[in-house]
Amino acid sequence: MPAIEYEGCAYPLSPGETVLDGLLRNGVNIAHSCKAGSCGSCMMRAVSGAIPAGSQTGLKDSWRAQGYFLPCVCIPDADLALTPVGSDARFSATIAALELLSPDVLRVQLHCDSPIPYRAGQYVTIVREGSLARSYSIACLPEGLEIELHVRRVAGGKMSGWFHQHARVGDRVTVLGPSGDCFYVAGNPDQPMLLVGTGTGLAPLYGILRDALRSGHRGPIHLFHGALHKGGLYLVDELRKLTASHAHISYTPAVLNGSDVDNMAVGAIDQVVLRRFPKLAGWRAYVCGDPALVQSLRKKLFLAGAASRDIYADAFTPAA
Ligand SMILES: Cc1cc2nc3c(=O)[nH]c(=O)nc-3n(C[C@H](O)[C@H](O)[C@H](O)COP(=O)(O)OP(=O)(O)OC[C@H]3O[C@@H](n4cnc5c(N)ncnc54)[C@H](O)[C@@H]3O)c2cc1C
Ligand code: FES
Repeated sequence: MPAIEYEGCAYPLSPGETVLDGLLRNGVNIAHSCKAGSCGSCMMRAVSGAIPAGSQTGLKDSWRAQGYFLPCVCIPDADLALTPVGSDARFSATIAALELLSPDVLRVQLHCDSPIPYRAGQYVTIVREGSLARSYSIACLPEGLEIELHVRRVAGGKMSGWFHQHARVGDRVTVLGPSGDCFYVAGNPDQPMLLVGTGTGLAPLYGILRDALRSGHRGPIHLFHGALHKGGLYLVDELRKLTASHAHISYTPAVLNGSDVDNMAVGAIDQVVLRRFPKLAGWRAYVCGDPALVQSLRKKLFLAGAASRDIYADAFTPAA
């Protein structure tokens, strides 16, 4: 069986075991979350040995070239020697501001020690206590050293609970990333765009919308934000103001349940979107938030005519 060399020790893997599971079984504290290759939290670097190509899926070319890979989906055929990721993918930051945007959503403003080369809509992974790692989407444009995250309170949640109850301005956190390809791509400024998210799925969309405007996107942009009830929506006034000053943008807040809904759509977000835009050939779409919604909406948008290369999605897969 292959063995993993890490920090001067060798850890033999059991048959069919992933590198991450083998290290955790041996008591090595490795940051991780989804254990499914989708959040990037567990990324490490192989300094020797052959990495199966599938364990580098979704990583940036520059990271792949340096031997970065995802141990949670890596079952190697031969020995590997590993190190943690370097300073190009691991940063330190200070919490600069905390603001409740709704009873359940906290805006977290981070001030990074050094610039992080991100695009609005990508995500970073916050690491605390060595191995607690959770990913959050970037809601702001890359300006200076700031990063804005929207963190929803999850009942019993280790990271979101810490942010909502214990985090204070001045606290230090470790940031991994950025990762993900859910961001505005210039080059087709007249293409109609659809942005759809539920809950804090608004965070990347809020960044992507402003990036598109800053990049001079001329085609119509339609943002749909869904929640179970009115209290689950946030940034409603800001988004209404933004759309009021740009004729080619529309914003539709939608609630699943409610009667007194103050100019909001009522119904399941996928039905609200497809009722309004049943034909999407030639459109570009961004879908973010709840994994089940992202998966089903992706399929529905494709069936409505959007090309799969024009559908960008970020599923907020919870920790395993
Ligand atoms: C690419 C990516 C981007 C993300 N972006 C954001 C973002 O911008 N904002 C944001 O708030 N979150 C985002 N998430 C989700 C985030 O990473 C965490 O999963 C979330 O904050 C919960 O972590 P926790 O440690 O608080 O809860 P945990 O301690 O992991 O979970 C506590 C309990 O809640 C359950 N649980 C976890 N998540 C959910 C859920 N969504 N619904 C219902 N039950 C749940 C767990 O199964 C567990 O029982 C993103 C995830 C990914 C993969
Ligand atoms: S990618 Fe490995 S834990 Fe999420």
